[in-house]
Amino acid sequence: MCGIVGFVSHSGGGITYILHRALKALEYRGYDSCGIATVHENRIYFEKDKGKIDEVFVQINPEELPGPLGIAHTRWATHGAPSRENAHPHLDCSDSIAVVHNGVIENFLKLRKELTSKGHNFKSETDTECIAHLIEEFMSNGCGIFEAIKKTIRRLEGSYALAVVSARDPGRLYCARNESPLVIGLGEDGNYCASDIPAFLFWTNKVIVLHDGELATIGSESVAIENVNGLKIEREPVVVSWTADMASKSGYPHFMLKEIHEQPKALRDTLKFKQQTIDKFAEIISQAEQLYIVAAGTSYHSGLAAQSVLSQTIGIPSQAIISSEFANLVGNSLSENDVVIAVSQSGETIDTLRAIRHAQSKKSKVLAITNVLGSGITREADLVFYTQAGPEIGVAATKTFLVQLTTFTRIALKLLDNFGTNSPAYTENFREKLNQTPQALNQVINKLEIKTKSLASFLAEKSNAFYLGRGVSVSTALEGALKLKEISYIHAEGYSAGESKHGPIALVDEGFPVIFIAPNDVTRKDILGNVMEMRARGAYIITLGEEGDKELAQVSHQFLDMPQGFSLPFSPILYVVPLQLIAYYTAVKRGYDPDKPRNLAKSVTVP
Ligand code: AGP
Repeated sequence: MCGIVGFVSHSGGGITYILHRALKALEYRGYDSCGIATVHENRIYFEKDKGKIDEVFVQINPEELPGPLGIAHTRWATHGAPSRENAHPHLDCSDSIAVVHNGVIENFLKLRKELTSKGHNFKSETDTECIAHLIEEFMSNGCGIFEAIKKTIRRLEGSYALAVVSARDPGRLYCARNESPLVIGLGEDGNYCASDIPAFLFWTNKVIVLHDGELATIGSESVAIENVNGLKIEREPVVVSWTADMASKSGYPHFMLKEIHEQPKALRDTLKFKQQTIDKFAEIISQAEQLYIVAAGTSYHSGLAAQSVLSQTIGIPSQAIISSEFANLVGNSLSENDVVIAVSQSGETIDTLRAIRHAQSKKSKVLAITNVLGSGITREADLVFYTQAGPEIGVAATKTFLVQLTTFTRIALKLLDNFGTNSPAYTENFREKLNQTPQALNQVINKLEIKTKSLASFLAEKSNAFYLGRGVSVSTALEGALKLKEISYIHAEGYSAGESKHGPIALVDEGFPVIFIAPNDVTRKDILGNVMEMRARGAYIITLGEEGDKELAQVSHQFLDMPQGFSLPFSPILYVVPLQLIAYYTAVKRGYDPDKPRNLAKSVTVP
């Protein structure tokens, strides 16, 4: 996944600073190389190189990039290694067209062969460069820039969010979208296009979302949208509630730590959002013959937790399936009586979008839970619930995981209200506890953050770790392990504690760290036994358990005491937070940047 941004200014030149700042807000989308191009007096000026945004831009002299119009790009390499040649923007043979792109052009080799045979000289290994030469080819046959872009995208197979500038058109920015996100910002000083809203939030929160198959011509005071068949489209801008401060670190050393601390607010905002949508979700779910939850990564872990919550609180069976395996596992067994809930914080994960398309090919109803306005998933699902976490910039998902869990818990509560066979007292206690989770979360963070930091010093010296839980805590264990491995690069495995004796325990030797998630629920007694087994083999036991659980504390080397009375379905919401903090502080202790872990991007938009 990559980040693209474009800007056309009212006031003339000096836009390098704006493009740099906008690009920085997209750095979570990729950071192995970057570049910028501007247009001034019928000439394109550009700079690009391998390296993170600040590393490259510190070498750039803004005077050498004049003009009121420009595009910029930060890359997560798909075709071609990170290098100066493969960095965007990519230009045509005469350096008069510049393109930045997020996505994958699947037929680029065929296009490259065709264009090379027509005399075009390629300078990179990327799929993107063929777009610049294709536009050049159509313009050499007499097309204007916009017509050439339209003809070009008709030749492209695959996903793209494009921004294009031409030396012959120094006042307009062109963009086009298919499967990769692209939004337009309407500012006082000019207009923007970008892969995501945070890019221009510092200047405007007036947003037009471009849809798949659409193109836009952006001037400093105008935006014209049409689809690839030339149909003009009128679309009103929306004013998003996000602010620039929400998309900045606000004094925290990293976005991830800020976003961990934002979780109580994210829960409060999500708890009170759109009850009518929750009611609709509950009604549809209650009528499902089969209920599936599809997602990837952390979102899959929230779906797995939801599977336990729905089955244990309201008796509704469901199956959480990893998006990339959904079509393979359910095949043709889906029908129009089934419901699929797709969970994706970015709303752009291609595996999850493909799972949705498979479900819709079998006429199943698709519900979506996402955090990003106008993301791809919102246009493919039948009904959408927007979580209210605000922008999540850190690559490691934290607050969006919690608000996904909160959304599922709200749905379970509504099902209890409508169909629950439990006592009214059970349902009322459920409602009360759910409303107490933000405050309980505050207590957890305030009470345990220092302890997680000291545990990080121990873990930072280790190269392996187990996270073990039972019941709904298996999903918490998986999530805790994912956090540690994806930002500290320690090999951590989340596992069912019951399953750990069927092989994994062979790995345990003296000092091997094993983290147990042990809320005071039906699984606690068996977990106690598993702790003893691991301890007997020399493991270093770290346990998250209910405050006052002396029995568990006595058999643990480290005991993190959690608020009393928050077992299923609330334990995953609370118990994951110390695990997020442990991962964060371990990564920092090991000298890594938790916001930009190696090889990862915030949203996986290529399969
Ligand atoms: C989580 O920390 C990872 N960044 C990753 O597993 C992520 O959850 C996954 O790629 C799914 O993303 P989505 O929620 O945007 O679909």
